[in-house]
Amino acid sequence: MAKARTQFICQNCGTVHSRWAGKCDACGEWNTIVEEDPTGGIGGGPGRQPKNKGRAVALTTLSGEIEDAPRILSGISELDRVTGGGIVRGSALLVGGDPGIGKSTLLMQAASALARKGHSVIYVSGEEAVAQVRLRAQRLNAADTDVKLAAETNIEDILATLSMERQRPDLVILDSVQTLWTDSAESAPGTVTQVRAAAQSMIRYAKSTGAAIVLVGHVTKDGQIAGPRVLEHMVDAVLYFEGEGGHHYRILRTVKNRFGPTDEIGVFEMTSDGLREVSNPSELFLGERNESAPGAAVFAGMEGTRPVLVEIQALVAPSSLGTPRRAVVGWDSARLSMIIAVLEAHCGVRLGQHDVYLNVAGGYRITEPAADVAVAAALVSSLAGLALPPDCVYFGEVSLSGAIRPVAHAAQRLKEAEKLGFKSAVMPKGSQDVSEASRKTSAEIADLPDLVARIAGGKLLTRERDNDEF
Ligand code: TYD
Ligand code: MG
Repeated sequence: MAKARTQFICQNCGTVHSRWAGKCDACGEWNTIVEEDPTGGIGGGPGRQPKNKGRAVALTTLSGEIEDAPRILSGISELDRVTGGGIVRGSALLVGGDPGIGKSTLLMQAASALARKGHSVIYVSGEEAVAQVRLRAQRLNAADTDVKLAAETNIEDILATLSMERQRPDLVILDSVQTLWTDSAESAPGTVTQVRAAAQSMIRYAKSTGAAIVLVGHVTKDGQIAGPRVLEHMVDAVLYFEGEGGHHYRILRTVKNRFGPTDEIGVFEMTSDGLREVSNPSELFLGERNESAPGAAVFAGMEGTRPVLVEIQALVAPSSLGTPRRAVVGWDSARLSMIIAVLEAHCGVRLGQHDVYLNVAGGYRITEPAADVAVAAALVSSLAGLALPPDCVYFGEVSLSGAIRPVAHAAQRLKEAEKLGFKSAVMPKGSQDVSEASRKTSAEIADLPDLVARIAGGKLLTRERDNDEF
């Protein structure tokens, strides 16, 4: 039999190289190429004759007994919602976010909340010394809880420590995964190989003991957690902690969850003594509203299962530039261009000579297309110089033909608006599940020209007619 040749495989993208190199040509990562024995089956090698003949497993049916995943609740309801009702025992959770956003703060608060409820929690810090972590715990009023603490980065040492514990821990927090390293991989901590190997060992520990683990990961400039994009598919749930510079609130967002819904958010405010839960984010986002200014529309949005009201601000001003400026904060700029094009093509609203600025108040980010109608309302209101009614909310998706399409959860959006004192709504015709009472107080519109006429009357159309004569 010919001598089996080893292969060199990039640990980041899986490309097979014929020889070792410092940099993978395929994905551009450094230090990710590792020599592997193809007879191990990796990389499509011929494979050895297996010693183990294989054992038959019993096949089963889709229906049958199901046990609910056992969960541990922290009592921090914003966190519990995002995890889908508590952290599942034996699962691995990845919490990503920019450095300094508050990940360690959040997890220290979660750890102490869990410890107060009698769970055994171990916090392993790889970035800060014990004294620093203690100082933070004091500031967060968490110092009196029996969270067990270690400053350690070597996986073998961490696992040995965990196995020495008399009582199996309920939760182990590793802050951060980029500092961890294992003897079994040779590259430096923070490289793909190390991060992946370290995470793999910890995930195996979680599955075998039933302890839940939380891995903290820093996001790099290009928006991925450094190196370990590979981690996202290995863990059971991925949460991102986000916030805008200059704003105090932070949003915890579910990106993946094997045990619950995604698209959930938890909202927190960073204060001098830690993160505070914001149970009604709409109030926060609508806090500093100037109701009589033209160009502001309140959007009744949804984040997962939760309605969130935010103000969308537009400023439309005559441009002195050959190519007018379009600037957006908190929304998709391609989507804004689309709304402007539809307003021009189907509603006779001319924005070609105007600069358009769009801002979502409070530094919040909207991803829903349901914001189209609110954006269009804000644009038209600013252009016409007419303020929108202060007690009205807007939602609906605009199609390229100018039609306004219904969106999901209309009833929930209306209910939240009503709760916050809004009296009416502008929504798509044919919205589902809306009560008769809400229908009476809201306007159901079928297309964008309808919306423009409702806001500006003949004002913008007159202007267009002037242009035509000209
Ligand atoms: P931290 O949790 O260390 O961020 P990460 O682990 O994501 O890198 O949070 C750091 C920031 O939070 C820091 O700039 C200070 C601020 N902070 C407060 O405003 N209040 C507090 O009580 C704490 C502990 C931190
Ligand atoms: Mg930290």
